[in-house]
Amino acid sequence: MNLNKWIFGLQQVLSTVLALLALGLLASHAAFAAGIADTKHNLGSTNTVSGANKFDGTAELCVFCHTPHGADSSAAVPLWNRKMAAPGTYQTYNSLGTSSLDGATAPVGSVSLACLSCHDGTQAMNVMINQPGSGGYNAGGAALAGAWTGANQTAGSIAAGLITNIGKDLKNDHPIGIQYGGGMPNGGAYTAGPIADGALKDPDFKGLSYANLNGQSVWWVETGAAGRQKTDMMLYTRTDSDAVDRSGAVVPGSLAGAQAFVECASCHDPHSTNTTFLRIANTGSAVCLSCHIK
Ligand code: HEC
Ligand code: HEC
Ligand code: HEC
Ligand code: HEC
Repeated sequence: MNLNKWIFGLQQVLSTVLALLALGLLASHAAFAAGIADTKHNLGSTNTVSGANKFDGTAELCVFCHTPHGADSSAAVPLWNRKMAAPGTYQTYNSLGTSSLDGATAPVGSVSLACLSCHDGTQAMNVMINQPGSGGYNAGGAALAGAWTGANQTAGSIAAGLITNIGKDLKNDHPIGIQYGGGMPNGGAYTAGPIADGALKDPDFKGLSYANLNGQSVWWVETGAAGRQKTDMMLYTRTDSDAVDRSGAVVPGSLAGAQAFVECASCHDPHSTNTTFLRIANTGSAVCLSCHIK
């Protein structure tokens, strides 16, 4: 092989390697691009979803919901960068008075309170506790400077009259802050562990999987492969002592132990690229049938 041929050969190898690298980069870029950045939950200036609510004051996107420091810890939500409303300011589903409701209802809390910090429509979405950059902390929350565009907002709050503006009255929404399956089989002092299909107080519910994570009991409803995945229906552990039954009476001691509750993020994953941020597609009502035995 003469030198020229050798160099040509080397060039071929190099260009193949470069082409493969470029493909790899494209693929990893595509994987990144298919995250929350391409959804209606990217509220920053980089949002490319047609017509979505968009704010020109920052190119960050997590900051509308999370902060690494100084979060609102009034409910068990990861590093929440927004002030959450007082639980008692919401009307809960049980006050509708359907005679079929079995589970006790806790005051609006957990992750639901975090979703409602935008979706009740009362607080502008650029109000945050810790704004981007140095020294931007305000314990009570303050509006980051900038301008909103997008048809579905009014001065940065989700516009009134839209289904996405859930409001303060939750009587017309699927119950949240409610015990799963009418409560655990043994009532209050539940012995941690998985629960079989139909073994809950209300037998019209799928059974639960269980894990003890760092000393805390967590439950979920499987929708596919065994093990706790984002595509399972997540349940949220609550021990509220002021939960009420459907007559509105406080349930004495019934939630003394940790119990599994349904909250907004049981069905929704706020970072998902699925339509309407559902944990799994609702084809054939798969979301509903993953909990309800119907
Ligand atoms: C629109 C609001 C919103 C935005 C924007 C958002 N998150 Fe979240 N995030 C939430 C909520 C609500 C939860 C709690 C979800 C739950 O309980 O299942 C959460 C949970 C998390 C968790 C813990 C649970 C998990 O899924 O691992 C991490 C980590 C996280 N977010 C990171 C991020 C990062 C990083 C960004 C920016 C790229 C981001 N989030 C943007 C609302 C948001
Ligand atoms: C920082 C504000 C903010 C928070 C916090 C937030 N959202 Fe949203 N969400 C929005 C905005 C803005 C939209 C788009 C509203 C519209 O265009 O009508 C939206 C849209 C949605 C939609 C509809 C998506 C669609 O394609 O129509 C769902 C479902 C949703 N959010 C669920 C949640 C849930 C569940 C949580 C909590 C886990 C949450 N959101 C927290 C701002 C927020
Ligand atoms: C039991 C499951 C479940 C719970 C709990 C739940 N949702 Fe949903 N949500 C859904 C489903 C399913 C859809 C899609 C409905 C459709 O296709 O029209 C939806 C749709 C939405 C939409 C979009 C409406 C639209 O048509 O654009 C928003 C916003 C939303 N949910 C927010 C929330 C918030 C906030 C909470 C907590 C207060 C919550 N959801 C609790 C199942 C749930
Ligand atoms: C994460 C589990 C879960 C999912 C998913 C779910 N539900 Fe439910 N649902 C519940 C629980 C728990 C209750 C409260 C039952 C009780 O206490 O009687 C409930 C209650 C209801 C009720 C009756 C409330 C009453 O007044 O008796 C209806 C109707 C309902 N769900 C419909 C749906 C539909 C439709 C879907 C799909 C869009 C759905 N659910 C998805 C857990 C779930």
